[in-house]
Amino acid sequence: MVDIFERIENNMGPLGQYADEAEGYYIFPELEGELSNRMKFHGKEVIVWSINNYLGLANDSKVREIDANFALRYGTAYPMGSRMMSGNTALHSQLEQELSSFVHKKEAVLLNFGYQGIMSAIDCLLSRRDVVVYDAGCHACIVDGVRLHSGKRFVYKHNDMESLEKQLQTAIEIAGEYGGGVLVISEGVFGMRGDQGKLKEICDLKKKYSFRFLVDDAHGFGTLGHDGSGAGVEQGVQNEIDLYFATFAKALGSIGAFIAGDPSAVKFIKYNMRSQIFAKSLPSMIVGGALERLRMIVKSTSRKDKLWENVNRLQSGLKEAGFDIGNTNSCVTPVYMHGSVQEAMIMVKDLRDNYAIFCSIVVYPVIPKGMILLRLIPTAVHTFDDIDTTIKAFSAVKSKLENEEYKVTITS
Ligand SMILES: Cc1ncc(COP(=O)(O)O)c(C=O)c1O
Repeated sequence: MVDIFERIENNMGPLGQYADEAEGYYIFPELEGELSNRMKFHGKEVIVWSINNYLGLANDSKVREIDANFALRYGTAYPMGSRMMSGNTALHSQLEQELSSFVHKKEAVLLNFGYQGIMSAIDCLLSRRDVVVYDAGCHACIVDGVRLHSGKRFVYKHNDMESLEKQLQTAIEIAGEYGGGVLVISEGVFGMRGDQGKLKEICDLKKKYSFRFLVDDAHGFGTLGHDGSGAGVEQGVQNEIDLYFATFAKALGSIGAFIAGDPSAVKFIKYNMRSQIFAKSLPSMIVGGALERLRMIVKSTSRKDKLWENVNRLQSGLKEAGFDIGNTNSCVTPVYMHGSVQEAMIMVKDLRDNYAIFCSIVVYPVIPKGMILLRLIPTAVHTFDDIDTTIKAFSAVKSKLENEEYKVTITS
């Protein structure tokens, strides 16, 4: 027998073990000031590349005014209770209607949070006879949703269609034996590396195999497709995606999420999803704000166009400067370098303290040992100056890294 609190005190987990040294700087850093391309970190202005404010809506003055007016009208509480019991309003239904039309689906249902929402949708869709097949690169919320499933699950190598087909064949065989069905899950855009899920290839497999397809398009919604409606439209297969999920926490610069599809599937989710049935409804203040943001992006693609001007300048500039940005085909821009975790930490400190660049850093075990990933999220509110300054700073720190200036020498 162990005392649980004693155990956790002795092992704070993979990140928690660094809390004393890293908290406030690398982990839980506090960015201050208006959400924008430039914010303050430890009292100094930095160019920020780590917030998913793709379309620049998060701090747009008109949007803030709209949010403030909804807050005045409704406060944070309204409506009270779960939607099923007492927390439903015409505004919630209106947003669902306009969202479904924007993403070219027949119906949509709102979710309080992206993370819990998709987890819960996966949980409610699957019976123990069903088999789930998902991409190894899927976000933690999908993995957690799959964990709730009491039946069989198979993971395929990231974006590897041969691996998917193999797993699918096994899944279909087992589902046949158990009298269940198969659900395949991919992301529209994988948020770390920026590569789109192979939605078209997965949909092509539907001609050969029988399964339903759920796409989490957190990073594609608002940024991809001619109208900004996401990765399914970008790849010309939105009709073949059975369930389309996206969050308001990225391109829309808010909080909340939705899932869209055919009426019967959406109705089933609406009436069976535990995280929504047994939780308070999304506040009207948020619902109204999301509706107005949606109408803004439906009316004009200018924000998305500006975003892509910036994405193209950043990605082509980095490539010209000799950087490896992997195989991104979205706004998410990874920059890969070689070095140890320690070198990565010192390099990021140099970038923040001496070049005024704030970006996220990803190291082993999320990516292979010896690799460093600096992740840039361009937005519509970045300027060409931000981009050019950042590329120059990256070139400077890369030279230092290659000259082993970030290597720690241990002196006794
Ligand atoms: C792919 C993906 N799905 C879901 C989520 C969760 O969304 P939310 O932040 O709205 O809970 C995220 C958030 O990072 C994400 O990247």
